[in-house]
Amino acid sequence: MEVLNKNIKILNHPIIDNNLAIIRDKNSDCEKFKNAVKRVTYMLIYEAAKNLPTIEKEIETPLEKVKCKVFDNNAQIIIAPILRAGMIFSEVAQELLPFANVHHIGMYRDEETLEPVWYYDKRKEIKENKEKVFTIILDPMLATGNSAVDAINNFISKGVPEKNITFVSLISSPEGIKKVSESFNEIKIVTSALDRTLNSKGYILPGLGDAGDRIYNTLD
Ligand code: URA
Repeated sequence: MEVLNKNIKILNHPIIDNNLAIIRDKNSDCEKFKNAVKRVTYMLIYEAAKNLPTIEKEIETPLEKVKCKVFDNNAQIIIAPILRAGMIFSEVAQELLPFANVHHIGMYRDEETLEPVWYYDKRKEIKENKEKVFTIILDPMLATGNSAVDAINNFISKGVPEKNITFVSLISSPEGIKKVSESFNEIKIVTSALDRTLNSKGYILPGLGDAGDRIYNTLD
């Protein structure tokens, strides 16, 4: 794993490399693409969940008592997929964190300005125990960073402490990483690839194309 700074982790593993090759390949069909993303998602969520709080609990095995670590059920974990592409991570994220709340964020990118346009946000302000609220924001592509910064700011404005927010992406651009890390000091980023750059339309190069179109088979 490459650690750009203590908050930015680029996972590095042969299983990820092999699946990224399938994901990037324009000849991979929708089913192949989704299955490869799913395999990488286990590793991304594994890493993103590392700072979630645990408590000690006494468990009895058939032989004796033992103190185990379990998730602190006084903490609230929010999984936040950015629609529509972020949904690709949801199933695995829920499988690994079954007690989490899923809060969808509806946002699309204006093709001219490359700025995010919000269309869905049902989340309420968090009033109590803010320190115990943890959010994992899910979006396969960290491209310009505009949507990421907007989504993160929105969670902060609703009361989630910045240090408890992790942004998870499959592929990131240097521009996106720069934008997020210059906008916040304590946000964590977990990604499985840092690509070369963005093109003039804000797509990541070499990237994988349009993530939503690849997932939902809406390529023309
Ligand atoms: N969104 C995508 O789906 N792909 C990119 O390369 C950038 C943003």
